[in-house]
Amino acid sequence: MKVHGEEYRTIWMEDSTVFMIDQNLLPFEFVIYESKTYFDTCFAISTMIVRGAGAIGAAAGFAMAQAYTEAPKDDFDDFILQAKDDISATRPTAQNLFYAIDRVYRAGKKSVEDAVKEALLIADEDARDSRLIGQHGMTLIEDNTRILTHCNAGWLAFVNYGTALSPIYMAHKDGRNVFVYVDETRPRGQGARLTAWELKNENIDHKIIPDNAAAYFMSRGEVDMVIVGADRIASNGDTANKIGTLEKAILAKEFSIPFYVAAPTSTFDMTCKHGNDIEIENRNEEEVLYQTGTDKNGNLNKFLVCSPGSGALNPAFDVTPKKYITAFITEKGIINPFAQSIKRICKELNCE
Ligand code: MRU
Repeated sequence: MKVHGEEYRTIWMEDSTVFMIDQNLLPFEFVIYESKTYFDTCFAISTMIVRGAGAIGAAAGFAMAQAYTEAPKDDFDDFILQAKDDISATRPTAQNLFYAIDRVYRAGKKSVEDAVKEALLIADEDARDSRLIGQHGMTLIEDNTRILTHCNAGWLAFVNYGTALSPIYMAHKDGRNVFVYVDETRPRGQGARLTAWELKNENIDHKIIPDNAAAYFMSRGEVDMVIVGADRIASNGDTANKIGTLEKAILAKEFSIPFYVAAPTSTFDMTCKHGNDIEIENRNEEEVLYQTGTDKNGNLNKFLVCSPGSGALNPAFDVTPKKYITAFITEKGIINPFAQSIKRICKELNCE
């Protein structure tokens, strides 16, 4: 996608340096973070310099490839195993992280060059799949559609295009009139900061809404559909996504609004039978207690926004049971979880 007229991917690798858009600084500053070692890339994943299911996957694949290029000859195997553990420990919920680590780890058993090639391929596939999700998903969007989305599942959350936002970009490019309700998505504000920034760059009509406003707009008949992304989808269709997704799904059912989950098949975890088996990341309470933003002079600052002395709970994801999901929008097409068994589809489509 374009930023200031220049084409960017969210994350890329040149030689063994990984470059990524620093998402902690957006929308206030546009800075490219450079990571020269696998350990530094781990730091970028865990501190959310890079975030979002597909972007985390690409980062993890690149980190694994960096580890292969860094590993000392006399301690090669132990170094690689340690790196694999370190990268796996960065964030627990996004399936794409484990998918990418596994692919690059296996490729690296052949040669270091194979590891690098595989990591680059994973990033390319992520961009391709997101584009295809857009093409399939746009068929669901008619002219004058009002869409609610939660968190950021745009191009910043992937290598390019994104998932939930990809059909919206394509419908807009096709000349259809769309309006997007952007949930602010506390505590990290991925909606208010990142989705809103992306939509503004693309001149797509949108407004940020408080996280607790969805029922108001839905009850007035002002939302036509919900599209969200996914961090991990169990083989029964239960879907982990950013905290707050479950309540939007329950609301959508109450008000008979279609609720779509857009995700590449690399996010489906066929070894996970049920949503209850998905590990949910608990993040630092500081993310709830403090917010970062700019003051009137444009200086970036961290502010305490809660009553001092109270602790906070900060689960980063929740699980939406399959019964609330109208369909999955994947790179292979639109999957109706009621008409088709996800396990069987994945077998047929060779995406296990
Ligand atoms: O910002 P994160 O990495 O904690 O959140 C992950 C996500 O981006 C969302 O859950 C998103 O909706 C899933 S699709 C990238």
